Amino acid sequence: MYNLLKGKKGIIFGALNENSIAWKTAERAFEEGAEFVLTNAPASIRMGELDVLAKKTNAQIIPADATSIEDLENLVEKSMEILGGKIDFVLHSIGMSVNVRKNKPYTDPNYNFTQKGWDVSAVSFHKVLNVLYHKKAMKDWGSIVALTYMAAQRVFPDYNDMADNKAYLESIARSFGYYFGRDFKVRVNTISQSPTPTTAGNGVKGFDGFINFSEKMSPLGNASAADCADYTISLFSDLTKKVTLQNLFHDGGFSNMGVSDAIMEKFE
Ligand SMILES: NC(=O)c1ccc[n+]([C@@H]2O[C@H](COP(=O)([O-])OP(=O)(O)OC[C@H]3O[C@@H](n4cnc5c(N)ncnc54)[C@H](O)[C@@H]3O)[C@@H](O)[C@H]2O)c1
Repeated sequence: MYNLLKGKKGIIFGALNENSIAWKTAERAFEEGAEFVLTNAPASIRMGELDVLAKKTNAQIIPADATSIEDLENLVEKSMEILGGKIDFVLHSIGMSVNVRKNKPYTDPNYNFTQKGWDVSAVSFHKVLNVLYHKKAMKDWGSIVALTYMAAQRVFPDYNDMADNKAYLESIARSFGYYFGRDFKVRVNTISQSPTPTTAGNGVKGFDGFINFSEKMSPLGNASAADCADYTISLFSDLTKKVTLQNLFHDGGFSNMGVSDAIMEKFE
């Protein structure tokens, strides 16, 4: 370990179980010397195993539905009290599509479901940024990261309306990131991660076939949740202070591939 986050304070959204990208990131942040608050939606805290992670990382849990400004205000205020000051890093690791859950095809969604999924997966990031911004909660040169997927740029049919949600999320990172940079020297980025076997990932139709395809297409293979945690730590550290407004691909090279030998072999 390198003490990359020694003395830094953070808020980590979205650790549901040990497969979650946020769970692995919390473990790595702890190893690197950070102190943080863990948060998730109340229903997910009841279903999940967050207590185990909290004990392991000496963290407190504050429930918050990330679509509720009131919950987020309470979260940010209490986090600053618990951590004894402003926040250095925030991870938004939240996603959910009701249409995907209810097997509604992209071509025939239930628009109430569309709106709910958009609120949870994309607008929640705007709300998190809004509350941090107006409470002046981020320390100068802090770092905020949200997780996204390449379906924001290219067609992956089974990703359904999450593709649109991720495009919106990435745009928020740029648009709000401008104000955070200008006013607080805080950076805002999204990490575009490989398919990863988590609760959210496994919910996507055809996930098993797709993760194998992606593995064979990427020169370095898929990036795991643990790899993603490492990359996220680098973005929280002081070694990446001038990286902002970016969508950063963390995918073993997948996003720049046309075709690989391993895929071609299957068609020859
Ligand atoms: N798994 C993949 O293949 C993959 C690939 C690229 C990007 N991502 C993104 O990574 C992020 C983390 O997902 P994951 O794969 O670790 O899955 P996960 O299921 O472990 O995490 C998703 C989290 O979102 C939380 N959440 C849902 N609704 C919420 C709400 N209203 N308020 C607060 N939290 C809420 C859930 O409780 C859960 O902890 C998501 O943004 C996801 O889209 C995942």
